[in-house]
Amino acid sequence: MIIQKSSNPRISSFDPTSFSFGNTFIDHMIICEYNNGKWGDLQLVPYGPIGFTPAMMGVNYGQACFEGMKAYKDKDGKVFLFRPEKNAERINKSAKRLAIPEIPKEIFMEGLKTLVDIDRDWIPHGEGMSLYIRPLLFATEEALKARVSEKYLFAIVATPAKSYYAAPVSVKISDHYSRSANGGVGFAKAAGNYAASFYPTQLAIEEGYDQIIWTDDSTHEYFEESGTMNVFVRINDTIYTPKTSEKILDGVTRDSFLQLAKRRNLEVVVGDVKVSDVIAAQRNETLKEVWGVGTAVVTSIFEALGYNDEHLLLPKLSEEESFAAMLKKDLTDIQTNQAEDPFGWRV
Ligand code: COI
Repeated sequence: MIIQKSSNPRISSFDPTSFSFGNTFIDHMIICEYNNGKWGDLQLVPYGPIGFTPAMMGVNYGQACFEGMKAYKDKDGKVFLFRPEKNAERINKSAKRLAIPEIPKEIFMEGLKTLVDIDRDWIPHGEGMSLYIRPLLFATEEALKARVSEKYLFAIVATPAKSYYAAPVSVKISDHYSRSANGGVGFAKAAGNYAASFYPTQLAIEEGYDQIIWTDDSTHEYFEESGTMNVFVRINDTIYTPKTSEKILDGVTRDSFLQLAKRRNLEVVVGDVKVSDVIAAQRNETLKEVWGVGTAVVTSIFEALGYNDEHLLLPKLSEEESFAAMLKKDLTDIQTNQAEDPFGWRV
């Protein structure tokens, strides 16, 4: 691995009590180029721009995918990654679907650990604090033929994070737009999935909502995801979440919530989540909670659902009553080394 440390580190001017998620970048980044059919040397370099022309294939044809993961610092300053192998595996599932060459797991893990180790001072400690890490793969060949690129870059950048969408949000149940289709790329963390979600989300924001509950493309009768998250629904004391499929991202936080719910002997149903069942439960007051989970946000609790022209309010549960809050605490206690980790998730 080639290591080129920054001669002008910015860490001394970083204020962990005042920063905004996603705009502040740590001093270094990882890069690794793919050319002539193979991955080159892994490099740690100062964070900064890299030169490309507008003819770069990745920006023309969207051959690009990414991951989202976090590092946490405990009270003694020890640093932990959370289930990083899951991200190493998933980036390659995304890459395969986009005809991007897979990044060997050893390169992914070595780059990740080196970056987090060198820039560990950037990881804020405290409630809801972490380092959000963004590994990405994109096509870099300068060519305009619509075909698979011959050159790629694997990169890892990172930004300090605090709770994101912490306040309860209102979500619109989509009756027209969808984020994925059978045979499509919904399960992948393809950059284009996010691009395609922005316009419908803007429309929902104009209607007074914060984000969208994505429903299936053919009938809009089933929940799929919410915003950039997996979605959970609680009716009475049973938790429901859609089954992962080629249309739904296999979220690491989603999987962790399911395992934590099982450990608490909660009743969980993984399968179809019908919009009409959720609406009926809201009307007969058995709908207790709806929430989203994802790496960036961990948990986002919903306060209202927009359904056709109706604005349906959800109950306001206390921290003690809320399964979402309870499972979030179980998870973040493990992530931040405040609880035993019987699952072996901390690295
Ligand atoms: C994540 O939770 O990792 C996400 O995908 C959200 C991100 C797009 C900010």
